[in-house]
Order: sequence, then structure tokens, then C-alpha cells
Amino acid sequence: MRKPIIAGNWKMHKVTDEALELVNKIKDKVNETDVEVVVCSSFVALSEIKKVIGGSDLKLGAQNMHWEDEGAYTGEISASMLKDIGVDYVIIGHSERRQYFNESNETVNKKVIKAIETGLKPIVCVGETLDQRDGKKTFDIIKEQVLVAFDNVNKEDVINTVVAYEPIWAIGTGKTASSNEANEVISYIRSLIQDKYGVGVSEEIRIQYGGSVKPTNVTEIMNETDIDGALVGGASLESEKFLEVVNF
Ligand code: 13P
Repeated sequence: MRKPIIAGNWKMHKVTDEALELVNKIKDKVNETDVEVVVCSSFVALSEIKKVIGGSDLKLGAQNMHWEDEGAYTGEISASMLKDIGVDYVIIGHSERRQYFNESNETVNKKVIKAIETGLKPIVCVGETLDQRDGKKTFDIIKEQVLVAFDNVNKEDVINTVVAYEPIWAIGTGKTASSNEANEVISYIRSLIQDKYGVGVSEEIRIQYGGSVKPTNVTEIMNETDIDGALVGGASLESEKFLEVVNF
């Protein structure tokens, strides 16, 4: 049985005080649930959040990292810096990073490898644009994104990664992929993992859906057989809404 995983991606929201306020409202409500819950804050709030989540089951995630260990990369954050703070997860290859910061499948792959090497669990994002979907290219795009992201990643490590299928046209738009549409692509991702790593791995790896997930649609999404969780943007910024999503 795969344990569901719900992660809040706060994107570029919340100064540290606001981040702590939100975490304090949710941290004790996620203990001993059957769902793994992660909050992915801005870099600058990570340390302070880590201090307050202490013994709670709430996990901490970052939204990006660089693939090199260290060096002259002004403005970048390394995997070991995140590990040092006690970060558990790191989102890699979010479509906003691909779109606005020129991330490619190749840089995603380098980051996935470095995250794993450093003991961080990557949440690897994949997804197609509306044009690609309309042009019936969804499966080709997803295949390329998944296979390149996991190039040179071995079986034992891939189990500890999470894949997030986020159709770009559903992010922040209020448009959700229907749960069937999402499940169809997520099943396809699972089949790609199966072809590459075998059925044991494909049955274990967790694959999330992301894109306008909210309290009103989360149950339907989570009822799909292949969907193991959600990567939540807007609805993760308010404690009540996020907890409703978590308690789908
Ligand atoms: P929204 O839930 O705001 O659509 O954002 C989804 C997302 O990009 C999560 O990473």
C-alpha cells in the first residue's frame, strides 16, 4: 500500500512570520494520520519552520536547488545546504521553473541525482502545456520528461522519489484536469516506471496530481486508483483549506 502524500507548494508567498503562523496551525493536526504531509516554503523560512515543527509528523520541503555541491553560482542554494537545515523533500522541475528560469529535462536530471546523493527526496514535476495537449502530444512530452529525469537513477533510489503530474494548463487557473484525465496520465507514468524499473518499483513509487486541487475536488482525485497524493498551490496557503485537502 502506498502512503498518500499531500504537499503544499507555497511558491513565492509568506514571509517568515506568516510561514510560522501557518505551520503552527497545521503541525499538530497532521500527526498520526494515514497521509504524509509536507510544506514547501521559501528558502528563507525553512530554518525557522524546522525549529517549530520539532516532533510533529509534518515534513519540510524546499522548492528548488542547484545540482553542484558548491561553487561560484551566485544566488543558488545547494542540496547540502538544504540537508543541513533538515529539509526532507525538494521540488524539482516545477513548470514555473521550466517556464521562467529555463530549466530543462537535463538540469532536472542533474538535480534529481544530486538530491538523492545528498539524502533529499525529490518531488519531480512533469506536465504538458495546453497546446501540447490539444496537439495530442501529452504522452510523448511526459515520456521524455520522465525518462530524462530518471536517467542514471537506480532502482533503489527511485522508490524514494515522488513524481508530480501537473498539467500546466491546470495550474493556478481554477481548471482541474478531470480525475479521469489525471489518472490516465498518472497510470501512463507508472507504466513508464514499470518498463524501466520493473513492477515492484512501479507499485511502490508515489505519483501525485497537481493543478487547482482544493477541498471541493480532492476526494474525487484521491479516489482514482493510481493517484497517490496532491501537490497543492493556492489551497495550501490557508490552514483551513489545506487541512481540508489533507483530510480528504
Ligand atoms: P495551484 O494549486 O495553485 O493550481 O498550483 C499547483 C501547483 O503548481 C503546485 O505545485
